[in-house]
Amino acid sequence: MLIYDKILAKKSKAFRQWMKSFDLSYGVQAGEELKAVENFPKHIQHLVKLCENTSSRRLTLVVAGGGSVGDFGGFVASILKRGVGLVHVPSTWLAAIDSAHGGKTALNVAGSKNQIGTFYPAKQTVLVKDLLLAQPEERSFEAFSELIKIALLEGGEFWRKLRAEKEVTSEMVWRYLPQAIAGKMRIVNKDPQEKSGHRHLLNFGHTVGHVFEAYYELPHGIAINYGLDFALKWSARQGILSAKAEEEIRTAPVSAYLLSAERDELLSARESVLKKWNQLLLQDKKKNSSRRLRFIFMKKVGQPVIKEVSVDEILMELCRQKEDELHD
Ligand SMILES: NC(=O)c1ccc[n+]([C@@H]2O[C@H](COP(=O)([O-])OP(=O)(O)OC[C@H]3O[C@@H](n4cnc5c(N)ncnc54)[C@H](O)[C@@H]3O)[C@@H](O)[C@H]2O)c1
Ligand SMILES: [Zn+2]
Repeated sequence: MLIYDKILAKKSKAFRQWMKSFDLSYGVQAGEELKAVENFPKHIQHLVKLCENTSSRRLTLVVAGGGSVGDFGGFVASILKRGVGLVHVPSTWLAAIDSAHGGKTALNVAGSKNQIGTFYPAKQTVLVKDLLLAQPEERSFEAFSELIKIALLEGGEFWRKLRAEKEVTSEMVWRYLPQAIAGKMRIVNKDPQEKSGHRHLLNFGHTVGHVFEAYYELPHGIAINYGLDFALKWSARQGILSAKAEEEIRTAPVSAYLLSAERDELLSARESVLKKWNQLLLQDKKKNSSRRLRFIFMKKVGQPVIKEVSVDEILMELCRQKEDELHD
């Protein structure tokens, strides 16, 4: 059974042709509403009816779409008939690099993201070049944050190659998919169910990135670019990242994508935003105790360090970096 983002059928004749090879299919509208648990009963009733004459052994769900469709479809696969086969066909860069790998599924509850879910890795994830390259070119800048995140966490050959690149394009993101995915999976495989805390490394750039994403309503990837930049600057400020290691990162042409003119404008925002940022940081799921959370710093490329920090320290550093930018 195919669960697919309706936009794909609308946009592509090849996709409509491919759909015909499935006995059963269910089209959905992508987005956070699809993941809302409040809408789930309606979907699952349709889906159960669709496959009522198919045994669970014969049934495999093929889920084609971005991260929202993947999170929804993966969750369905994990509970339908107590679990059926799952294949992901990601159609966005975010899904191709990140969400289709690692087995996390999720639904939102009362507007809060990813509050329930399962660990349910796909049997296969199929990357289709034509499908991914059909996205608007500017989406590749958004995808870049997850690429550089993994490259910085891993170091080695992936980083050496990436740091020699001049420009981010869809073609380039496509070329690095295998390395980015292998890098993510090396981290996931050490802590598949997020028990030891190792998987938390994948949150690099995301603590503050999520604040920007929510507050400025930025695309995830753009917000994470700024979150990574923040984490690198803070690592340097704390003396965790040496000047030499910082220079190695900053002199890479692609590091320019971590900053933008738009960001300067963002960071010159008024003090009243601090209250809201404080609230958003307190919503961070990786929070340890009341006002402390685990933050990923970088010692050098390939050597991340997890340190517990307080929400107030993050807010202070946000202000300090803002001051620095104003003086530059
Ligand atoms: N499970 C995980 O590990 C994990 C990790 C990161 C993010 N996520 C989740 O992923 C979701 C975000 O992912 P997303 O940005 O892919 O979201 P999405 O599925 O909402 O897709 C974004 C938009 O792109 C459109 N789209 C999809 N494929 C397209 C194509 N080929 N060409 C043009 N447009 C296309 C969609 O219709 C939608 O409007 C969030 O819900 C987030 O929580 C999950
Ligand atoms: Zn991310």
